[in-house]
Amino acid sequence: MHTIIEPFKIKSVEPIYFTTREERIRILEEASYNPFLIKARDVIIDLLTDSGTSAMSSDQWAGIMKGDESYAGSSSFFRFEAEVRKITGMKWVIPTHQGRAAEKILFSITGGKGKYVLSNTLFDTTRANIEFSGADGIDLICEEGKQASLIAPFKGNINVAALNQFIADKGASSIVMVMITVTNNSGGGQPVSMENIRATRAVCDQYEIPLFIDACRFAENCFFIQQREIGYRDKPIIDIARELFSYADGCTMSAKKDAFANIGGFLALQNDQLAMECRNLLIITEGFPTYGGLAGRDLEAIAIGLEEVMQEDYLKYRIRSIEYIGEKLDSVGVPYLKPTGGHAVYLDAKAFLPHIPPHQYPGQALCAALYIEGGIRGVEIGSLMFGKYSPEGQLIPHQMELVRLAVPRRVYTQSHIDYVAEVIIEVFRKRESIRGLKIVYETPYLRHFTAKFKSLA
Ligand code: F0G
Repeated sequence: MHTIIEPFKIKSVEPIYFTTREERIRILEEASYNPFLIKARDVIIDLLTDSGTSAMSSDQWAGIMKGDESYAGSSSFFRFEAEVRKITGMKWVIPTHQGRAAEKILFSITGGKGKYVLSNTLFDTTRANIEFSGADGIDLICEEGKQASLIAPFKGNINVAALNQFIADKGASSIVMVMITVTNNSGGGQPVSMENIRATRAVCDQYEIPLFIDACRFAENCFFIQQREIGYRDKPIIDIARELFSYADGCTMSAKKDAFANIGGFLALQNDQLAMECRNLLIITEGFPTYGGLAGRDLEAIAIGLEEVMQEDYLKYRIRSIEYIGEKLDSVGVPYLKPTGGHAVYLDAKAFLPHIPPHQYPGQALCAALYIEGGIRGVEIGSLMFGKYSPEGQLIPHQMELVRLAVPRRVYTQSHIDYVAEVIIEVFRKRESIRGLKIVYETPYLRHFTAKFKSLA
C-alpha cells in the first residue's frame, strides 16, 4: 500500500520563525509557564488547538470574494442555511460568531438553577455557559472512556445505564437536555457510535427530554462510524451525518473546527418556539438572524468548508495523520490516550511523569518541556483545566492528566509531524529530569487561560 498523502497542494505559505533552546527557556519563564501567554511567533509547531487554525481552500478564498454583505437577506446566508440544512436536516439555522455564542444563547433560554444538562463530556465553554445560567452540567462517559490505555472503538460513548439512572433519580422535569459531544474533545477526541446515539434517543423519548449534538467535529466522528461500526462501511459521510442528526432536536457547532473556517458557528433547531426565543436573543447579542455576528464572506467560507470536510480523501488523510503520530510514539512506549482520536494526540502525563503529583500539574510541566525541547505548543487537559478545590482549599484532581496536541487542519506536512514525534520522544528520554510547577496566580473561572506558575526545579 502506498503512503496516504496530503490530498492538496500548497498555494500560499506562511513562515515559521525558529528560536534556540536558550531563547525558549527565557520566553517560557516570561510567559509564567503558561502556553497561552507565549506569543505565536515564538512557537515552531503550534498544536494549541485545531480551532480556527485551518488552512482554507482556494474555493473558500474565492467564496470570500463572493460574500454578500447585505445586512438582511444576504445570499451568503441562504447558501449557508441550505448547506447546514442539507447536513443536519434542522428547520432553523441560526448563525453565531463562534460555538460558545450558540451555547450562550441556548443555555440562557433553557438553563437555570436546579436544572441539569447531561452529556458524554461537556467541553469547557459549554460547561461554563451551563453553569453561568445556574444549571449543572453532568458528564456520564462510558467505562472504556475512563481508561487511557484501553483500546476500544467508541470511547466517546455516553454511559446509557448511568443516564437512565440519573434521570430516574432526579426526575425528568429537571433535565434540560442531553448533549452529546462528537467527537468527545475533552475525553480524547474519541468518537461516539451511531448505536449509542440511537440508545440515547430512546432514553430521551421515554422521558421526553430533548437531545442535542455538540457538532464541532461531526465529520471526523462520522468517518470513525464509517470505518468502525457495522453497517456503515459503504455509506457516504453525508448519509451518516444525516442519520446522526436525525436523532437530535438541535445542535450547536463551532465552524472553527470541521468547517475549515477561521471564525463562525451556528445553532440549529427543530422546535419553532425555542427557535423564536433564540433568534430574539441573537438579535440583541449577535446580530440580525441572517448574519448573526458574522460577515457574509464568513458564511460563504463555512458553507464551502462544510462540503469539503465530508470528502473521504480528506478524512482518510486527516485521521491517518493523527494515527501516524501514535505509531511513532508506540515504537518507544510513550504513554498516550489510546487509540488516537480525530483531531489530536493526548499524551498521558500521569504515566509520562509519574514522579510529579497532581498538585504540581504534570500536564502543564509536560507542556513546558515540549516547548523548551522543540518549540511545540500544546495544552493541558487535566487538573489545571478541570481541577476543583475542596472547602479546605485542597486540590481535587481531575481523573486524567493529559496534554492535548491538536493538529490544525491542512496546515502541517508530514515532516512537521515527524519533527513533533521526534521532540516528544526526546522529552520522554529525559522525563526524569522534568520538575513540577506551582501556581502563583489564578482566576475562579477557566483559570487555565491566565494562570501563572513557578518551576519547582
Ligand atoms: N464544543 C467543543 C467540543 C469544542 O471543542 C469547542 C471549542 C466549543 C464547543 C466552543 O467553540 O471555540 O467556537 O466557541 N474548542 C476549542 C478547542 C477552543 O481548542 O478545543 P468556540
